[in-house]
Amino acid sequence: MIGSSIHPGYFQYPEYLALMAREFDVTTAEVVMKWDIIHPEPERFDFSQGDQVIAFAEAHDMRVRGHTLLWGQALPPWVLEASFSREQWMQILCEHIKTVVAHYRGRIFAWDVVNEGMANEGTLWENFWLRAIGPDYIAMAFHWAHEADPQALLFYNEHFAEGMNQKSQAVFALLQGLLEAGVPVHGVGMQMHIWLSGPPSPEDLAANLRRLAELGLIVHITEMDVRLQWSSDSMASRLQRQATAYRDVLSACLQASNCKAIITWSPTDRYSWIPSFTGRPDAPLLYDELGRPKPAYYAILELLQAP
Ligand code: G3I
Repeated sequence: MIGSSIHPGYFQYPEYLALMAREFDVTTAEVVMKWDIIHPEPERFDFSQGDQVIAFAEAHDMRVRGHTLLWGQALPPWVLEASFSREQWMQILCEHIKTVVAHYRGRIFAWDVVNEGMANEGTLWENFWLRAIGPDYIAMAFHWAHEADPQALLFYNEHFAEGMNQKSQAVFALLQGLLEAGVPVHGVGMQMHIWLSGPPSPEDLAANLRRLAELGLIVHITEMDVRLQWSSDSMASRLQRQATAYRDVLSACLQASNCKAIITWSPTDRYSWIPSFTGRPDAPLLYDELGRPKPAYYAILELLQAP
């Protein structure tokens, strides 16, 4: 599967919809299935924008990944400002997960159940849920999601854990422990927000994919983009290096038996989160601002067409 994240905030642009429908067979809700949008008040869920994503995807034969049931960010004020006991937070989280997963049962084939649970140092990220519930929140979330939709593939999604490093080692150990404890986890999302100077080496990526396969886990490359900023090379050279980075990731994925999807974080440079996040212009995706294919697009096309 080759995909892009999607955001209904851009559905007003016909070229956005046309490119999404034409180029991709899987999509992820980039923003609108997170807590702050989908559960804005304690007693109110708002599925309207998530439903728009599903309707578009189903009209164009695209599969949908759900993102995300649990994250330390994108939480609504009512969660951040409340003070509840551990048991109450467990009940709130359980209700959230079961309500959202049940609403999309049969229409979302894979969920990022837990997003970014690990700090770069390889210890659990001190996020809201760790403080509210303790380390068991991860296993609980997977159990509740599985109860709400036993058919859905359930993923642990992480950034900076693509190659072989302290963080990916910690993610591997976490998943090994969850599987040993009988927790229903089926896959790992490798976000793959990378830049020219720091993509994981092809050997490291292959080794990480292999050890996850040995655990029986599938992998989706879930949020790929390759930043061009922080380089003094010419733009032509940067675009070529970007193409190589995309090609190397796809190549590792194609060679790994367990790597099933590669998804970019927005379809074109125009809609990327990177410029507003970094405060600098960038061009991290496969298509330029006008939706024209870039060298990275041709690099992966060539690989896909190779015998
Ligand atoms: O839609 C409103 C718009 O009406 C308003 O004018 C504008 C003003 O700030 O905000 C717009 O909403 C923003 C939304 O993106 C759409 O652009 C939100 O403020 C902003 O918080 C939101 O950011 C998203 C962020 O997650 C938080 O949900 C990014 O687009 C999205 O790319 C980012 O995605 C995360 C993944 O979920 C997890 N991995 C890292 C990745 C990047 O941070």
